[in-house]
Amino acid sequence: MSWGLKNRLSKIIKPKTGKTVMLAVDHGYFLGPTTGLKKPVETISALQQYADALMLTRGVLRASVSDKIEVPIVLRVSGGTSVLTELSNEGLTCAMEDALRLNASAVALSIFVGAQYERQTLLNLAKLVDEGEQCGMPVLAVTAVGKDMGRDARYLGLACRIAAELGAHFVKTYYCKDFSQIVDSCPVPIVVAGGTKVSEKEALELAYNAISEGAVGVDMGRNIFQSDYPVAMIKAVRSIVHDGFNVNEALDLFEKGKKEKQKKFD
Ligand code: 5RP
Repeated sequence: MSWGLKNRLSKIIKPKTGKTVMLAVDHGYFLGPTTGLKKPVETISALQQYADALMLTRGVLRASVSDKIEVPIVLRVSGGTSVLTELSNEGLTCAMEDALRLNASAVALSIFVGAQYERQTLLNLAKLVDEGEQCGMPVLAVTAVGKDMGRDARYLGLACRIAAELGAHFVKTYYCKDFSQIVDSCPVPIVVAGGTKVSEKEALELAYNAISEGAVGVDMGRNIFQSDYPVAMIKAVRSIVHDGFNVNEALDLFEKGKKEKQKKFD
């Protein structure tokens, strides 16, 4: 890795703890106006100060984020599909030159292993890695799961390993049973997605288990911005990722945080 690439990555995965709490707010790129993100500017401005990185598209970045922001940006650069069509048919949606102009700290794209357009998305990843290597830009591969695919260690382990083999600098995947096997067989750092909204306790358990089993952090969206207490929730997630809190300690923090004034997002 070049100095610039390592330096960009260190903005996201904090050297002090070796961990990261990324806030994923890129859902609109195929889901449209998702609950909790209908007005991205509100969600992002309230939560950004608690995030180690923001994952989003260039459209939302330009329209909804101040150019004075100090939080590093992980720019989603794949898309081209909607929830109404075949999700795996993604292409690259943002040139590396623009990612550099936007001062991104990493670029992210989805791969769809086992899906109709698997090959296309894997070649997208390889191309993006080539471009990233040229200019010192880390690439995050998102192991997206198509409609018909399971979320077990065998499948996600396959997807994460392929992403790493093709040169991804870090990988985002889902937590599942035997998650440590995925971590053990993937030679680059893994962050976990939160997935669909569950109770705060379940989401904190997911974060705790993932960190205990070797993830370097979370890239969580809906379980934070769809919570009735989003600020309390992201602080509780941080306490697990960075401060070594267990689930009960993080839940206590969440309960205390609920007393602070905060907005539920539409
Ligand atoms: C979609 C993504 C999302 O960022 C990802 O799903 C993370 O958000 P959530 O915690 O809501 O699952 O990469 O492909």
